[in-house]
Amino acid sequence: MTQRRVGILGLGAYLPEKVLSNHDLEKMVDTSDEWIRTRTGIRERRIAQEGTPTSELAKRASLEAIDAAGLKPTDIDLIILATVTPDMTFPSTACIVQDKIGAKCPAFDISAACSGFPYALALAQGMILSGAYKHILVIGAEVISGFINWKDRSTCILFGDGAGAAVLGEVQDGHGILATYLGSDGAQANLLKIPAGGSAIPPSPASVEAGLHYVHMDGSEVFKSAVRIMCDSIIEVAKRADLKVEDIDCLIPHQANLRILNAVSDRTGIPLEKIFINLDRYGNMSAASTPVALYEAVKSGRVKKNSNIVLVAFGSGLTWAACTIRW
Ligand SMILES: CC(C)(COP(=O)(O)OP(=O)(O)OC[C@H]1O[C@@H](n2cnc3c(N)ncnc32)[C@H](O)[C@@H]1OP(=O)(O)O)[C@@H](O)C(=O)NCCC(=O)NCCS
Repeated sequence: MTQRRVGILGLGAYLPEKVLSNHDLEKMVDTSDEWIRTRTGIRERRIAQEGTPTSELAKRASLEAIDAAGLKPTDIDLIILATVTPDMTFPSTACIVQDKIGAKCPAFDISAACSGFPYALALAQGMILSGAYKHILVIGAEVISGFINWKDRSTCILFGDGAGAAVLGEVQDGHGILATYLGSDGAQANLLKIPAGGSAIPPSPASVEAGLHYVHMDGSEVFKSAVRIMCDSIIEVAKRADLKVEDIDCLIPHQANLRILNAVSDRTGIPLEKIFINLDRYGNMSAASTPVALYEAVKSGRVKKNSNIVLVAFGSGLTWAACTIRW
C-alpha cells in the first residue's frame, strides 16, 4: 500500500502595486541604495495602500490559489492564516478572509512570525492525514509597513508587504510533503519583537510615545542565529525525508538578507543557483516570504514536476520551520 501524502494543489500570491525603492528610502532616512544593497541585497519592496488590511492581500492570494487548485471557496474545509500583522487583535484575520472569499469553514490564525507558513503547512498536513479535513487553505500574509518606524534606518529598510496562499489536499504517486521540522527557542524572544499592543504592555499614549508599537530588532544577533538555524533545519528536514542535501533541487528560503543566504549556501554546500531569491524585489515579508517565493519558483519553472524542494524559514520567537516537498 502506498503511503498517503499531502501536497499543494494550487498556489496564489498578491503583492501591492506601490514600490518603495532604496532611492525613495534615501529621502526618508540617513541611508543609501549602496548600503542597503551590499548589506542586505534588497533593492525595493512593496507597500500596501494606507488603510488596506492584511485580510485584503490574503483574500487575493487565496482566491488565486483556490482557482489554481480547480476548487471553489466552498470546497475549502479549513483556513489557517499565518501572520504577525493581523487586521485586529481579535477576531482572527482568518475569519475575516473566510467571509471575504465566501468560504464556509472553520478558520484560525497562527503566530510563528516569519516561520508561520511552513509551520501552517505542517499543521495542515497532520489535519488532512488525520482524515478530519480534505482541502485546507494555508495563507501567509502581512501588512508590516504599519508597524515599522520609518525613521529607524536599522529596521525600515528590511521589510515589505505581501501575501501568498496554498491549497493543500491528498496527492498521489509519491508527490507531496515528505517531511517537516519545527522548532522554537523562547529564550531568544527579545531579539525581534513588537513590545507593546499585547497584554504585557497594552497600547497607551505612553507606549506609542516610546515607539513600542514598532518592530524592534537586534539585527546582528538575529543574523548569527538565522544562519545556524537555517543550516541545521535544512540538514534535518532532508534527513527526515531520506534525502541528501545534494538531492535538493530547489531551496526556497525565508527572504531576509542575501548575506544570510550566501552563508547558508557556503555552509550547506547548496549552490546559490539552487536557491530561489526574490528578496531584491520584495524585502522581508515575514510570513508571506516563503509562499510568495514558492509561487514564483513554480511559475518561473525553477520548480518542476518531481523536483525535491525544501522550504526553510526562521523568525521572531525565535521560531524555525522547514518542509521537504516532492513537487
Ligand atoms: C539589519 C542588518 C542588515 C544590519 O547589517 P549589519 O551589517 O549587521 O550592520 P550593523 O547593524 O552592524 O551596522 C553597521 C553600521 O551601519 C549603520 N547602519 C545601520 N543601518 C543602516 C542603514 N539603513 N543605512 C546606513 N547605515 C546603516 C549602523 O548604524 C552601523 O554604523 P556604526 O558602525 O557607525 O555604528 C543585519 O544585521 C541583518 O540583516 N540582520 C538580520 C535581520 C533579519 O534577518 N531580520 C528578520 C528576521 S526574520
